[in-house]
Amino acid sequence: MERIHVELGERSYPIYIGNSVLSDGELLARHLADRRILIVTNETVGPLYLAALVKQLSAICEVESVTLPDGEQYKTLEQLDTIFSHLLKATYGRDSLIIALGGGVIGDMTGFAAACYQRGVDFVQIPTTLLSQVDSSVGGKTAVNHALGKNMVGAFYQPQAVFIDVNSLNTLPERELSAGLAEVIKYGIIWDQVFFDWLENNVEGLLALEPSAMTYAIKRCCEIKAEVVSLDETEQSVRALLNLGHTFGHAIEAEMGYGNWLHGEAVAAGMVQASYVSNALGRLSDQQLQRIVSLIAACNLPTKGPKQMQPEHYLPHMKRDKKSVQGAIRLILPAGIGKAELRSDISQEVMIAAIEAAGTQS
Ligand SMILES: NC(=O)c1ccc[n+]([C@@H]2O[C@H](COP(=O)([O-])OP(=O)(O)OC[C@H]3O[C@@H](n4cnc5c(N)ncnc54)[C@H](O)[C@@H]3O)[C@@H](O)[C@H]2O)c1
Ligand SMILES: [Zn+2]
Repeated sequence: MERIHVELGERSYPIYIGNSVLSDGELLARHLADRRILIVTNETVGPLYLAALVKQLSAICEVESVTLPDGEQYKTLEQLDTIFSHLLKATYGRDSLIIALGGGVIGDMTGFAAACYQRGVDFVQIPTTLLSQVDSSVGGKTAVNHALGKNMVGAFYQPQAVFIDVNSLNTLPERELSAGLAEVIKYGIIWDQVFFDWLENNVEGLLALEPSAMTYAIKRCCEIKAEVVSLDETEQSVRALLNLGHTFGHAIEAEMGYGNWLHGEAVAAGMVQASYVSNALGRLSDQQLQRIVSLIAACNLPTKGPKQMQPEHYLPHMKRDKKSVQGAIRLILPAGIGKAELRSDISQEVMIAAIEAAGTQS
């Protein structure tokens, strides 16, 4: 088992990663013994993992659970209220602890519930998708969606601990696994060439959910995100690099209708499009571009945009991106492999040419 320490002064916390984290009674007791706990999960993850977790915990603490419907469309104030109602009816106090058991939707919503309930109670994450393990575990962003915008109501709120059991990925649909790998590849491109090399040599092990490969990949991603976030917690500078592929990707998600392309799939195609921009600027060699495209393809991810989308269709969405400043589109671009830069001086012609060069699906 691996342990990462996320250094945030008084709000520091550990992340445990391995293939027996959730069956490690001693570890769970160290963080959860004698607490009054509410587990929040959903209708998909609950039937798979809730009973075993409750069994572990009921030996050491008082535990109840609430099961919400599954889906991004349920990441709402209404579901948040369901959590609050449960806490209030069962008279949970300020000393309670809330556990998120599920993917990023449950994690974000539960974290925000913990931030709000009685002005803040303890919070532990058990992320069960690869995406949530490598992304939401670090950074403390919590939120729900509003009819007028995604993640528009939320807070920065750090958990007390994160438990990542790679065995929980065994039940994850393959498409969701690949979507998580898009974010994994992103860390290699923006920050760590050695990790990118390692990924090229270990794709098969990752797709086969080989525990030691998966544990290493998740650990490295959490370390990189922790390093980036500790340098820039509130996204004034280097944290923006984590958005590689996301400006193009958000355009794909918005144009295609949320849910038709998974977030990670859109980010994968977006990273390729961003790489073509870098290549056109002479910041990424043909060979480096090809390595990025090949690794993304090897993870069963799209390397081209949707066939319905012409290059011009991207720009209106990209201008609306919340990262754009005064109408100028801000792009994160690879500068070789293992390094990236923020650019707001790229012409729309160059962007359109890059989307064209990356291609559309047949
Ligand atoms: N807080 C952050 O820093 C952060 C970072 C990235 C994404 N997010 C948020 O996370 C959400 C996306 O997260 P996600 O990709 O995990 O989506 P998700 O939570 O919707 O999970 C994807 C699907 O997999 C199911 N699932 C989860 N674990 C499973 C398992 N072990 N076995 C079988 N099925 C399982 C879920 O029920 C769901 O149907 C978005 O709302 C996004 O805004 C937050
Ligand atoms: Zn993302």
